[in-house]
Amino acid sequence: MVTGDQSADVLRRAKGLPRVRLDARSGADAELIATGAFSPLDGFVGKDDYFSIVRDARLSSGKKALFPIPITLSVPRGEAKGFRAGQDAALVDAAGEVVGTIAVDDIYELDRDLEAKEVYRTTDTKHPGVAYLMEHRDEVALAGRVTLARRTIERKFPQHHRDPAELRKKIADLGWRRTVAFQTRNPIHRAHEYLLRCALEITDGLVVHPLVGETKGDDVPAVTRVRCYEILLDKYFPKDRALLSVFPFAMRYAGPREALLHAVARQNYGFSHFIVGRDHAGVGNYYGTYDAQRIFDTVEPGELAIQTLFFEHSFYCHGCAGVASIKTCPHAEDQRLVLSGTRVRELLTKGEAPPAEFSRPEVAAILIAAYREAAKA
Ligand code: ADX
Repeated sequence: MVTGDQSADVLRRAKGLPRVRLDARSGADAELIATGAFSPLDGFVGKDDYFSIVRDARLSSGKKALFPIPITLSVPRGEAKGFRAGQDAALVDAAGEVVGTIAVDDIYELDRDLEAKEVYRTTDTKHPGVAYLMEHRDEVALAGRVTLARRTIERKFPQHHRDPAELRKKIADLGWRRTVAFQTRNPIHRAHEYLLRCALEITDGLVVHPLVGETKGDDVPAVTRVRCYEILLDKYFPKDRALLSVFPFAMRYAGPREALLHAVARQNYGFSHFIVGRDHAGVGNYYGTYDAQRIFDTVEPGELAIQTLFFEHSFYCHGCAGVASIKTCPHAEDQRLVLSGTRVRELLTKGEAPPAEFSRPEVAAILIAAYREAAKA
């Protein structure tokens, strides 16, 4: 990110350059690169890194740092002739405004089938991450270092928005030595809350760090979720030990690979610990329940500083009279309150709150109101 005179220079220079249009995803990626959330990346990846990341979840040179999902930028094949390696191009946001530049150093074809197989573990276009990949088949990748003079992420939640450097400072100011991040793209129900409490027992502070970038259509919108997080933290967590801060990344639903990326990014935001539960970043039945935990076995000592906290499937159990997990609960399945996402949606759509053992009534009330609004619209 550049500011002041430098930023005016960048924008002036960008005026005469060929233009690359950023969509919601690449716009979010550009700012996450520019603010260090994807460190050690300093730009959209080139061909060598692309293939190395896809095949090996690591960069191609230097220390071959762990980086599990290729962050790429592409332009329609028909426009590719307008760009040349060694020349800068202007980055333009969805509204058509110039926001910065990319120092193009590589123009190349992605291997989308390989990427789907290796990163997403499926080539099924019903998978939302694979669908995005394949919808952009007619595009060619541009690689290079990114310089941003303007923000490319809309501040939907300004009071909860912190760049990596800001969050690191906040954590330092709070005096937390061990800080755990909770990645989520769902409302927090009692089972999630159990993970949060367990994690907070063994750390100094908890940050609910929800993903608020693009998600698929049937996920609960971020505006609704953020209201749920606010009320939950306000009423049920100690103010000096729990914080809400947003993660504006566009969800890929890449399961295990995405769990690794979530961990790398959270390390950059200053966290020491990261929660990975059941089917982290999964969708449908593409991944095994604990694949996103197992993939951390492939991380070599010293590759990641952030520590993972793994949790098994958790639920309210009538026999335990509390929330427990497969690991800690001795009771039969009929004692356990396990509701599918579909069932929960059905209840909320009908205006019915799930049992209080499943969801805090305040959270259910917000969700019911949101479903009612959505039905009217
Ligand atoms: S996602 O980003 O992983 O797709 P989600 O909100 O569904 O978001 O889950 C957030 C975190 O809680 C993930 O680490 C997930 O594995 C974990 N999790 C969700 N539900 C449960 C559960 N019932 N038991 C254990 N872990 C869970």
